[in-house]
Amino acid sequence: MDNQTNLCIMVALCLIIATIIFHKWRMTCKKRAQHRLPPGPKGWPIIGCVPEMMKNKPTSKWIHKLMQELNTEIACIRLGNINVIPVTSPELAREILKKQDAVFASRPRCMSGKLTSNEYLTTKMKRIITSEVISSTIHQWLHMEICHEEADHLVKYVYHQYQSPLTNGLVNVRVVARHYCGSVIRRIVFGKRFFGIGMEDGGPGMEEEEHMDGLFTTMFHLYAFALADYVPWLEVFDLDGYKKILKDSIKNMRKYHDPEINKRVKMTQKNNPLLSVQEIKAQITEIIMATVDNPSNAVEWAIAEMINQPDILDKAYKELDKVVRRDRLVDESDLPKLNYVKACIKETFRLHPIAPFNVPHLSTKDTIVGGYFIPKGSHVLVSRLGLGRNPRIWEDPLKYNPERHIIDESTQVMLTDHELNMLSFSTGRRGCPGVVLGSTMVTILLARLIQGFSWSAPTNRPSIDLVESEQDLLLAKPLIAHASPRLEAQVYAQLLQTHYMKETTI
Ligand code: HEM
Repeated sequence: MDNQTNLCIMVALCLIIATIIFHKWRMTCKKRAQHRLPPGPKGWPIIGCVPEMMKNKPTSKWIHKLMQELNTEIACIRLGNINVIPVTSPELAREILKKQDAVFASRPRCMSGKLTSNEYLTTKMKRIITSEVISSTIHQWLHMEICHEEADHLVKYVYHQYQSPLTNGLVNVRVVARHYCGSVIRRIVFGKRFFGIGMEDGGPGMEEEEHMDGLFTTMFHLYAFALADYVPWLEVFDLDGYKKILKDSIKNMRKYHDPEINKRVKMTQKNNPLLSVQEIKAQITEIIMATVDNPSNAVEWAIAEMINQPDILDKAYKELDKVVRRDRLVDESDLPKLNYVKACIKETFRLHPIAPFNVPHLSTKDTIVGGYFIPKGSHVLVSRLGLGRNPRIWEDPLKYNPERHIIDESTQVMLTDHELNMLSFSTGRRGCPGVVLGSTMVTILLARLIQGFSWSAPTNRPSIDLVESEQDLLLAKPLIAHASPRLEAQVYAQLLQTHYMKETTI
């Protein structure tokens, strides 16, 4: 080819590229002209509403209040150069997580996500995790056995507290629930219940307590409106202290994970690994966090709500007595028949989610949602509170009423809601891959606690104070309640004699 032909080709190529860019730009302008951004506060040049965000903590409360004042179920709040799009209606959530799932299937990149995922090393691994770690086959042969044994340890631990002269039958339900979830996932991942020697009564040792503290601190600071998540060049100054808090809390978890992982990697060194050590470490942190927070929070709130409404607690006792009776402990095979217990859990997910917003989704191109323009790169936050407490969808939304999830005797209550009238496990490409394990864990945990013990408020209190924490959605104070055995004495006697020797792992 001579130079002239080359030049012609180059010019033609440039023209084609310029036409495509021009066309895209025109389309964007057209969309922008036809559709406005969702309503929201004006914000400052460059920094947007960052000063307001810093002034109004916790940010999630500020955003929900703002939306109420604007009387909108979708808003646009500019933080730095990012459009944050909170959404509080099921219809809009369906548009985002179902109809336009492909557009919103990515996670935003930001400081807190980068720290927990070892620089985003978890992104390519969902398929491996789903098929190799939490598949239904593995659930059947491994998780079920672990959930069952840990449920036995759970009843023993509470029973010891009932017997102990030190506790007077008072049980810290938060510690018990977190310890059950933590033990299940430690067994699944590391093949051990305790990082140290544990406590004689079966409760968490100092190591497990530190591990859980690290886990919840990390969880509450991940995608939690850190300044550096929206203004990345301020990360070095760490003005709100989030980076230090996250680094310390992640360190507190990893100091227990990493030696176990290193040991295991050494043992399998000859094989050709699918994942690097750093990838394994990041993924394990993510799975451990994902397993503990939702179920333990739901069970603590459920028992608190049920103590204050004895009719509900009574119905749950009656269902368990009918399905299981009092001469053995409830197990996994009973779960399909425990519709009322499952309705109690579902109602708790609706009213008391662990976090105000779902994990953020990123729009990977310009699009329209609810008639509004959503620019590429927006962070979309589906509000778990907005969906679950939406007065258009739920009658008397702040009332704890499990009956609302029961259709009839023959229809099983599912903890998932793919129609997104509430957000439990979410749906779509980024929906929770741990539905089977998560549902089993949370149901067996609540069913065992209710079947094994009668619960009431401490004797000096008329009821449980159902107040949310100022900072997050946990009960403001850990639930301390009175527990006394309600099964035949031989059930506990047999349980205390059982020793599990085997510690299984994949
Ligand atoms: C009651 C228990 C659980 C609940 C309510 C729950 C809920 C959720 C929710 C709401 C999400 C975010 C979905 C979205 O972004 O749209 C999620 C993500 C996730 N969950 Fe769960 N989860 C539970 C248990 C588990 C368990 C037991 C595991 C694993 C062992 C797990 C692993 C994950 C993972 C890996 C993700 C991230 C998925 C992704 O980014 O693609 N979850 N979960």
